[in-house]
Amino acid sequence: MSDTPKLNRRPEWTALADHAKGTLPHPDLRELFAQDPGRAERYVVRVGDLRIDYSKNLVTDETLALLQELAAATDVFGLRDAMFRGERINITEDRAVLHTALRAPRDAVIEVDGENVVPEVHAVLDRMAGFADRIRSGEWTGHTGRRIRNVVNIGIGGSDLGPAMAYEALRAFTDRSLTFRFVSNVDGADLHEATRDLDPAETLFVIASKTFTTIETITNATSARSWLLAGLGGDEKAVAKHFVALSTNAEKVSGFGIDTANMFEFWDWVGGRYSFDSAIGLSLMIAIGPDRFREMLDGFRIVDEHFRNTEAPANAPLLLGLLGVWYGDFLGAQSHAVLPYSHYLSKFTAYLQQLDMESNGKSVDRDGDPVEWQTGPVVWGTPGTNGQHAYYQLIHQGTKLIPADFIGFARPAAELSDELKAQHDLLMANFFAQTQALAFGKTPDEVRAEGVPEELVPHKTFQGNHPTTTVLAAELTPSVLGQLIALYEHKVFVQGAIWNIDSFDQWGVELGKVLAKRVEPALTEGADVPGLDPSTAALVAAYRELKEV
Ligand code: F6P
Repeated sequence: MSDTPKLNRRPEWTALADHAKGTLPHPDLRELFAQDPGRAERYVVRVGDLRIDYSKNLVTDETLALLQELAAATDVFGLRDAMFRGERINITEDRAVLHTALRAPRDAVIEVDGENVVPEVHAVLDRMAGFADRIRSGEWTGHTGRRIRNVVNIGIGGSDLGPAMAYEALRAFTDRSLTFRFVSNVDGADLHEATRDLDPAETLFVIASKTFTTIETITNATSARSWLLAGLGGDEKAVAKHFVALSTNAEKVSGFGIDTANMFEFWDWVGGRYSFDSAIGLSLMIAIGPDRFREMLDGFRIVDEHFRNTEAPANAPLLLGLLGVWYGDFLGAQSHAVLPYSHYLSKFTAYLQQLDMESNGKSVDRDGDPVEWQTGPVVWGTPGTNGQHAYYQLIHQGTKLIPADFIGFARPAAELSDELKAQHDLLMANFFAQTQALAFGKTPDEVRAEGVPEELVPHKTFQGNHPTTTVLAAELTPSVLGQLIALYEHKVFVQGAIWNIDSFDQWGVELGKVLAKRVEPALTEGADVPGLDPSTAALVAAYRELKEV
């Protein structure tokens, strides 16, 4: 056990707690802007193509200084440097955390156990590029000699959410003559719907699994294999032309029946939720082509370098991480909304849910002691403007503090007709209007001045003072997507470092997996499950009864 004081006993923490009490209920954004209109210009950081405006947050210069003192006291930058150096900072799994090596330039040297991993990273990227080009050009053909027109990625969690999200995000850059589907759910409906209109002779399955033991993925991959063989006359040789694997586990891949010549490798120092810029991105690379994929990696790298080399006040991931700590630990926020004003980012928040919640949903610190402070928030959100007509009511007039990130672009990504292009300004007018309304609200006097009857004034008042951060870029390109993801990866890192938790393990998903395996025979064979609690036993009995009807 380390003898450094626990986080909430550090003077920097208590100083923030006192500061929070002194500014209660919260610093008021109307007042803050009245006192200092210049904060609109000062409270902006730039990284790569991203302009991040944090002026509508409930912070003052003093708050920011105190938060930075906390970051210094908890040595966030020390842990950052250890991560970039390849130290085993994932302590419970005794692993290095080196997703940043996946986007390192060819000539970089990053060592794990004395071995430079960068050449292997580029060797795999080059193999992926060769394969992607062969699919895209039609040179790679299926078992019957027909070209591949459909790519079905089978994976779950980090082996699904990243490629599925990025495929949507970069749709405008994809080869539209190819069809892409992403299957993750062990519910057979997922695979059924993804394959029902496809021709097996033209379909490639990309089996994405770091461990190659994940039950959902292996089950779906097995069913996909049966579907393929049934459609192609049962010749086992077809598998080699229609299945590739993305994994760290060559033994399991060949055990499954996929030739390791058709396997694209990655390494145990890449966490599942940090893996989509590894071989796990193969489906995306087929969709957008190797050059665009590399542009995306360059985008990641811009933010990696910024995070690594920028001093605290202008360090964007540090700043976003600190704002989250301020809201969660000192102002009582339980959740964080991410609201992209881009249809193409429809899966972005779902992707961030795994990134953030699987990383920082922890309640013991790195010493194994229970934490006495809040850790990761509930992350949620969907693209604007849809959310405006659903749950924004609660953000505007509900009782909860919900800090939100608004992400928007100056230009639409796709080539749209003039009429559809013109809609972009309307989308973005909503984007700006929402953060304005959230920050400054509408006072009772302003409502009265509109002639609203007195009894309706409370209902039509907007208290305002809801914090938002605005991330603006010119356009959603592959590089900008890489920048956005790296921004959040490092934000999550910063928070884990401050909270002194291991952001890179995920033991919390294990128990459910073990219990599911134990319960399954009761559902399929009616077997007795010893030790089943009375509630679950009754549910299982009800299920069996209903199943027979
Ligand atoms: O849900 C737990 C988890 O291990 C994730 O961290 C991971 O992304 C996912 O399952 C899939 O794992 P694999 O890539 O090994 O199939």
